[in-house]
Amino acid sequence: MSEILIAAPSAATSAAGGPAAPSADPRVVLSARDVSVRFGGLTAVDAVSLDVRERELVGVIGPNGAGKTTFFHTLSGVLAPTEGQLLVSGDDLTGAPAHRFAMHGVARTFQTPRVFREMSARENVQFGLDHAGRGRPHAHDAFDDARSILAFLGLGSFAETPAGALTPSRQRLLEIGMALGARPRALLLDEVAAGLTEAEIESTAQLIRRLRDDLGLAVIWIEHAVRVLMDCVERVVVLHQGRKMADGTPAEVARDPAVIEAYLGQEVA
Ligand SMILES: Nc1ncnc2c1ncn2[C@@H]1O[C@H](COP(=O)(O)OP(=O)(O)OP(=O)(O)O)[C@@H](O)[C@H]1O
Ligand SMILES: [Mg+2]
Repeated sequence: MSEILIAAPSAATSAAGGPAAPSADPRVVLSARDVSVRFGGLTAVDAVSLDVRERELVGVIGPNGAGKTTFFHTLSGVLAPTEGQLLVSGDDLTGAPAHRFAMHGVARTFQTPRVFREMSARENVQFGLDHAGRGRPHAHDAFDDARSILAFLGLGSFAETPAGALTPSRQRLLEIGMALGARPRALLLDEVAAGLTEAEIESTAQLIRRLRDDLGLAVIWIEHAVRVLMDCVERVVVLHQGRKMADGTPAEVARDPAVIEAYLGQEVA
């Protein structure tokens, strides 16, 4: 990866000084409070707190094994935290199953895309509309229809193509379409640009902005393509060895000495 980040001495945004102290702010759609996940003796997520507000676009970065995906699992109810609390729009869903998180408006993609390969692209999105999104109004009326979701994603001409026949990049878009079918308020994207060309990664970043700008979603985006992510989001959270190492604007995080030493320094090399 050819990431270039300019280090400059300045105030760092450490986890302690970052802007993510949990609060009763009604605009907070998703709130993790001191969330830890342990697998036997391994602490994969270590007392991470994060508040994500309506229409916020947050990037999550960190080295392999930092706990990013495991943290997403807790934010979406796939995995109950060993310790800590999860609130969705102010409701305590700690320990609730994933479908309850979905009914509360949290949708996600998976690091390995999970599409129904034998079904058409349209049927995949329809599945999202019929199941996770059932009974929930969408912010956009047009999004009650699978074809309009596919058109938004640039997949309009692939509506009847079996998902398994789509390119990997289009399968990733389709998974976003399935998540949109759930009519979310908050969308969690786990490496939706992994394995894509640089041009595809750029267009994925543009799409992610439209998810927020046009659909009004809160978006949390895990990605290893640090430069593209930093250019796209307005807030970056750095996870390192399960802990939240930094939380601030891309500019603040890029010049945080602890982040440079532990993570970005390797990326620049
Ligand atoms: N089900 C599990 N059982 C045991 N250990 C696990 C399990 N899931 C994850 N881990 C471990 O937890 C740590 C965090 O893993 P996680 O997948 O959350 O990292 P990540 O930041 O998403 O990494 P990557 O960038 O490679 O996707 C790793 O050490 C991983 O091996
Ligand atoms: Mg991961």
